[in-house]
Amino acid sequence: MAVSAVIEFQKRFAEWLGVGWGFAFWKGRVAMYAILKAMGIGDGDEVLLPGYTCVMDVNPVKYLGARPVYVDIEPVTYNTDPALLEEKLTPRTKVIIAQHTYGLPCEMDAIMDIAGRHGIPVVEDCCLAMGSRYKGRLCGTFGLAAYWSFQWSKPFTTGIGGMATTDDGELAGKIDALCRAELQRPSAAAAAMLGLQRATYRALIYPRTTATATAAFRWLTRKGLVIGSSATCEFQPTMPEGFFLGMSAGQARAGLRQMRLLEANIAHRRRMRSIYDELLRQAGWDVPEIPDYMDPVLVRYPLRVADKGRAVAEAPGRFVELGTWFESPLHPAETPLELYDYHPGTCPVAEEACRQVVNLPTHPRADEATARRSVEFVKGIGKP
Ligand SMILES: Cc1ncc(COP(=O)(O)O)c(C=O)c1O
Repeated sequence: MAVSAVIEFQKRFAEWLGVGWGFAFWKGRVAMYAILKAMGIGDGDEVLLPGYTCVMDVNPVKYLGARPVYVDIEPVTYNTDPALLEEKLTPRTKVIIAQHTYGLPCEMDAIMDIAGRHGIPVVEDCCLAMGSRYKGRLCGTFGLAAYWSFQWSKPFTTGIGGMATTDDGELAGKIDALCRAELQRPSAAAAAMLGLQRATYRALIYPRTTATATAAFRWLTRKGLVIGSSATCEFQPTMPEGFFLGMSAGQARAGLRQMRLLEANIAHRRRMRSIYDELLRQAGWDVPEIPDYMDPVLVRYPLRVADKGRAVAEAPGRFVELGTWFESPLHPAETPLELYDYHPGTCPVAEEACRQVVNLPTHPRADEATARRSVEFVKGIGKP
């Protein structure tokens, strides 16, 4: 039974995406690690990433002994600026990570063209982009492989969780062999605790309660009383014991439930985006012009404010679910950048975005009233 729920979830997910293979893991970062390791990434190889990401997205690169090389973003979609990509390529570049930030698709034609001319594979980071399309095609189907996250704040949640997908039979064979040889199973205690946390989440987390609940959750995580999204040892670039973990049956069953709700989830997020666009336009804010050929499904609605520090400090008291992604080129603010080869000034557009951008909820528990309250709040903070 335990195995079959995971197999079923992998199958359903790959079918939804329209690719041949899905491999489920304990977290999205583990899925990324599996892809890179199966591709043979190792010592001295270079992996290109946007300088506007989560440090957990850089850890797998470092764990494999490879070097992350950061490319600045363009300021509307917060995605890798293709105009800057080519100059970062060296003979050691082995992978380009295309991260669809906030659910906004990367400029895939340009990225695939550069990658193709140089013979470098693209791997898509779809952790924030489930259902987004570029020129009608689903994000996650352009590159050699893609990885997905089902952590609490992601397009849908299995508590924590992740998936690697590919349509390439050779790579799938290598991921499969790696999993058979090295993948460990999560302990029964960890799987049960996560199940309890999912039930608590379903009962307690609504836009008005998120800030308080998140603070309590972080406190409990630091005390080691619950399973956090990231352990303290994950804020340094050394692979912790027991990192390479598979998905539990409970996570997979939660994933299967979420798959049944996926089209409604996607439709809701599209509707929330147009509500935010409309409310912000009415308030006289410039709504970013996203090209027509991009059809984003936003995990959060990003916008720039005049005083991010004040917004973050005041939001909980106003019961506004305000997100801070990304606080640093390698989120969160506490990341020791030098240990991850990021030198301040490398990605100035991303660094400015870190100072200005907050994000608002689009998830199924947020509605028009949530959007109105959130927009009233940001109006009080002001635009930059
Ligand atoms: C852009 C991005 N990629 C990858 C990850 C890693 O996902 P997970 O937390 O499931 O390991 C995250 C979040 O942590 C993320 O924001």
